[in-house]
Amino acid sequence: MKLFALIYLLTIGGLTMVLFQEKTKKESIEAGQEIYQDFCVQCHLNSGEGVSGVFPALKASDYLMNNVEKSVAGIKYGLRGKITVNDEIYDGIMVSQGLDNEEIADVMNYILNEWGNSYTEQITTEQVNKIPKNLVD
Ligand code: HEC
Repeated sequence: MKLFALIYLLTIGGLTMVLFQEKTKKESIEAGQEIYQDFCVQCHLNSGEGVSGVFPALKASDYLMNNVEKSVAGIKYGLRGKITVNDEIYDGIMVSQGLDNEEIADVMNYILNEWGNSYTEQITTEQVNKIPKNLVD
């Protein structure tokens, strides 16, 4: 009986690990590309260049690359008020797109590694989970 219990626990444990395993960086970027096309492309455009003065660029954005946590917070909670992106001032509003933490991690990994952008670390769901709202208040 004990053996059955052990096998049962190992199976459930194994399944849980598979289900909750973080994607590889490559898988996350691929998933992020689809999310980008559905939720971000209409403003930041396919090229990631945005529209000067209205929608800031993500491609080669100093704001994004130097404020990764704030960028996560902006996507998670929405972003409004003055920000400077590549020496241009924006004072617009980006509402939260209602993505869950895993989707935000995926889309972050995509925008951090597309259009010539490059970021060594992988953004994880757990990290997104911990990003507080006061970063963008
Ligand atoms: C309706 C238009 C719109 C959509 C859709 C949108 N954004 Fe934005 N985004 C903006 C605006 C406007 C700002 C600047 C807000 C400000 O001025 O405070 C911004 C700012 C940003 C910034 C920080 C500034 C920069 O350029 O580095 C990031 C990062 C960002 N958006 C990523 C995303 C991602 C990822 C998505 C999709 C999940 C998305 N945005 C969807 C309009 C949009």
